[in-house]
Amino acid sequence: MKYAHIIGWGSYIPDRVLTNNDLAQIVDTSDEWIYKRTGIRERHIAAANETTATLAFEAAARALVVADLHPSQVDLIIVATSTPEYIFPSTASQVQDYLGATRAGAFDLSAACSGFVYGLDMATQAIATGSINNAIVVGAETMSRVLNWRDRGTCILFGDGAGAVVLKGSAVPGGVMASTLRSDGSGGDMLSLPAVYHNPVPTLGVEYFQNGHHKNTISMDGRQVFRFATKVMSASIKTTVAKAGLSLDEVSLIIPHQANTRIIESSAKRLKISPDRFYLNVQNVGNTSAASIPIALCDAIDDGRLHPDENVVFVGFGGGLTWAASVVKWDVSPPTISRRRREWKRARYIYARSRSKAKRWRRKVVDRFSTPPIPEARLKDADKE
Ligand code: UT7
Repeated sequence: MKYAHIIGWGSYIPDRVLTNNDLAQIVDTSDEWIYKRTGIRERHIAAANETTATLAFEAAARALVVADLHPSQVDLIIVATSTPEYIFPSTASQVQDYLGATRAGAFDLSAACSGFVYGLDMATQAIATGSINNAIVVGAETMSRVLNWRDRGTCILFGDGAGAVVLKGSAVPGGVMASTLRSDGSGGDMLSLPAVYHNPVPTLGVEYFQNGHHKNTISMDGRQVFRFATKVMSASIKTTVAKAGLSLDEVSLIIPHQANTRIIESSAKRLKISPDRFYLNVQNVGNTSAASIPIALCDAIDDGRLHPDENVVFVGFGGGLTWAASVVKWDVSPPTISRRRREWKRARYIYARSRSKAKRWRRKVVDRFSTPPIPEARLKDADKE
């Protein structure tokens, strides 16, 4: 039996900032309303040349540097996302290619804002059984691409970004100690994002794209989601902490899905603990869905809120409905890596991209020169017809 320890972490937030005042130029809202009801001041928006996969790659590459692991040592890449650029290839396979993680399996995981915790548990179980030894779990989203920018009830909440952790198997007890994963599909309509085939197809061909096609966007019943969130957050924290054989007093920090400060305050009240025991960065990044917990984890480490031998809880909730929590015994200190070494490590991703390009070219060349000739007899038959 092996234990899955978090040995690396990294996040990536796009440069472009969208403030509440910027949003007030787009929809009928105000900085005061958004901040009072959600705690959000600003969020970040991906640039035109950025995708969920490029954000995920940046976060994963940073996490590998902290873990001091070569990409070829990674056995599994899981990307939790609701905003993949493609259904297939998966975002995880794109990240695998960008990293040059040549010996890794890769898949995407769809559990909305709970996806990162789901992924963490899946990777932990694979490590515990001995099926794999190292894994990268990423939460990555470009929410700005699936928002209805006319709906003030949703477009003010979300932002883009990615966060990742590297897990490593070890016989030393610790790491991810317990998790709880739950779903209630009866509440699916409270928070939804239709898939491509949901679109009606009025006419086929070019016209379809010119007239009929509309972009799928998020719809949400905010009040119902709010009620659901406060209930399941406190319950799943309690259940998972007990599963890990701990009491709430032994937990130093709770890193919740960053959706709304009021949800976190209500959960703290239900648990009869101070809201200060929850880490919050929603004010700067908004709700980044599956990316929110790993981004908050990185910020909490940077803020000096996590120390070796402390217990930390991750808790998420979202569309599905889904919710999930994990208890992690934190047993690493941030390593000190020189800038030079960091830059040297980045160079290998340039090599990975060139190798990927070379592979594509090689496939084309092989295809060009190895097309099997059609047997003459079949050509003759075709002529007769
Ligand atoms: O990852 C999970 C994602 N989802 C969530 O976490 C959502 C959870 N829910 C929430 O965070 C809150 O329900 C919201 C922040 C979305 C909304 O806050 P609320 O306090 O539940 O507001 P409400 O929907 O009850 O609306 C109150 C009023 C309404 O006006 P009337 O009908 O009272 O005149 C809304 O039309 O506020 C209005 N309103 C706004 N006003 C200014 C709704 N959105 C806005 C806005 N700016 N952006």
